[in-house]
Amino acid sequence: RAEVVINGSSSPAVVDRSNESIKHNIQPASSKWRHNQTLSLRIRKQILKFLDAEKDISVLKGTLKPGDIIHYIFDRDSTMNVSQNLYELLPRTSPLKNKHFGTCAIVGNSGVLLNSGCGQEIDAHSFVIRCNLAPVQEYARDVGLKTDLVTMNPSVIQRAFEDLVNATWREKLLQRLHSLNGSILWIPAFMARGGKERVEWVNELILKHHVNVRTAYPSLRLLHAVRGYWLTNKVHIKRPTTGLLMYTLATRFCKQIYLYGFWPFPLDQNQNPVKYHYYDSLKYGYTSQASPHTMPLEFKALKSLHEQGALKLTVGQCD
Ligand code: CTP
Repeated sequence: RAEVVINGSSSPAVVDRSNESIKHNIQPASSKWRHNQTLSLRIRKQILKFLDAEKDISVLKGTLKPGDIIHYIFDRDSTMNVSQNLYELLPRTSPLKNKHFGTCAIVGNSGVLLNSGCGQEIDAHSFVIRCNLAPVQEYARDVGLKTDLVTMNPSVIQRAFEDLVNATWREKLLQRLHSLNGSILWIPAFMARGGKERVEWVNELILKHHVNVRTAYPSLRLLHAVRGYWLTNKVHIKRPTTGLLMYTLATRFCKQIYLYGFWPFPLDQNQNPVKYHYYDSLKYGYTSQASPHTMPLEFKALKSLHEQGALKLTVGQCD
């Protein structure tokens, strides 16, 4: 039986990044791409040996109680207590229980989305996943509006909402949360100790203002399980990015997966500059040794899967 060749190489991260965008030209072009159902099913089965998105997408209420102590995944010596608020917001059943979708969009945050005109195409998918509470309203033409699941690393509260220093920022966050209107808000609360207070602030806001979102807090094993899957396939990632986590989870409940806004390079395929995020002025940080991510390496793996028809990457304009 043929193996899934994801990376095609067992060597760790590419080091020379000077003209990486040239090396990553996407083939086949959009119009020639064909979905490979057999391969997608094989990948789903392989991933299921490591994790089950239905279960690992969130810790459930029945498994924790207020006061329980949790060791942070990346700071094993630091602990947190399960607060009453966190307990109240834990779902009783998996938000993905028995869910199956024909096509899903995963929207990364690269500036490559700007002027893509992909909004309508993204919104036409049955299930749309977005990352880190990225704004949509002002960019709807390029990124769409539909949001079924959105992630929120605690660091977003600092980066995009000024750590809620005053009432204006609290109101801004509250409005953004209200705009989610019933979608799943996925908060990695148990990853690193730095997010402790920020997660609590958000939980408090949701409860106090009866915000209509379905909260989910990924399982303690998810990150290592995802990393394990990719390492087994010779993709030597340090810590999976949110985008890669979402793809790995989506294989469980999406028949076809379409990726937009995945482009961790400062130049596009035509050598024009690309912003790191479509919505802010954050600079490229992945080249730094300190960064926990290995985005270009992840991209190489995703590109290889695109070429084999297991997923579709869009890195330019939509038709
Ligand atoms: N992404 C990308 N190219 C970029 C920016 C983002 O491919 N230039 C993808 C990555 O998969 C990333 C996702 O889009 O995980 C969402 O972007 P971002 O919010 O920057 O996510 P993280 O890097 O995971 O967030 P953090 O820096 O908080 O870890």
